[in-house]
Amino acid sequence: MSDHDAFRQSLSDRAVLVEAFLDTQLSADPRDHETERPERLLAAMRHAVLNGGKRLRPFLLFEVNALLGGSDDAVLGAAAGLELVHCYSLVHDDLPSMDDDDLRRGQPTVHRKFDEATAILAGDALVTLAFDLTISGSAGLPAERRSELVLLLARSAGLGGMVGGQMLDLSLEHGDAASDMITTIHAMKTGALIRYACEAGAIAAGGTERARMRRFGEVIGLAFQLADDLLDVTADSASMGKATGKDAAAGKQTLVGMHGVDWARARLDAHVAEAEALLEPFGARAAVLCGAARFIAYRTN
Ligand code: IPE
Ligand code: IPE
Ligand code: MG
Ligand code: MG
Ligand code: MG
Repeated sequence: MSDHDAFRQSLSDRAVLVEAFLDTQLSADPRDHETERPERLLAAMRHAVLNGGKRLRPFLLFEVNALLGGSDDAVLGAAAGLELVHCYSLVHDDLPSMDDDDLRRGQPTVHRKFDEATAILAGDALVTLAFDLTISGSAGLPAERRSELVLLLARSAGLGGMVGGQMLDLSLEHGDAASDMITTIHAMKTGALIRYACEAGAIAAGGTERARMRRFGEVIGLAFQLADDLLDVTADSASMGKATGKDAAAGKQTLVGMHGVDWARARLDAHVAEAEALLEPFGARAAVLCGAARFIAYRTN
């Protein structure tokens, strides 16, 4: 099997695992500490989550943890929690006051299918459930590792991470940001959760190679958003499951708009080379993660 096929198989196996768990967690029955689960809110949350995402972030957490000797079972809650933070970020990113998008993962966005207030609340409930699952769904991990994961997730998702990056990203629709500033925004709005995925995998497995995996996550996180901006220019809406051509239409500054498609492809090659060099000490055992790095840079959806 090629690295790519091995990666694809592993991505799909982990997606099945995390989706089954999330399906159960988003069931209609109130849990012990709950009085009720409002039907419309739950339906909106299920629409936001169980709708065919690539599940790349949970995959990275699982795979790094596995490479360092951990089991998938032990990190299922952490992987699912991370996917929930990502799904919430998409629900809010698509809102009329943000990117104002109608299509996500090939379906109507949550505010289009339901309404704006429900979409805001669904996002709120997803992010809180994310922290719940990171703790309650990872019972196989020692308590101190679980609390480290929660702390790192909070920091990666918040003010100095994803949300902070989304705030800075708003400024790219007016003004003239320097290339370095755009890279900082990528590292925050998209890179922080991908870096968390890799670093969390290392923490869960006991902490060895944590710094290396954090750097690996940073590099592939930058590649991920650069590829997203490239696909916004080169791909069609049907294969992406979301609108394309939006950045140019909104007059949004991107590295692709600034430096061109060829420059972006060369930069992606450089990110892949750095990611692969970081994995070198693991030899063939890191084949699936190498496949993931290449997929992130050269993907078509
Ligand atoms: C899209 O992320 C949002 C960005 C950070 C660019 P993905 O491309 O991972 O979206 P899904 O989860 O597969 O839908
Ligand atoms: C989104 O970046 C990053 C998030 C934190 C959600 P984009 O706005 O480019 O993502 P898409 O293209 O809508 O998926
Ligand atoms: Mg956006
Ligand atoms: Mg968007
Ligand atoms: Mg985009």
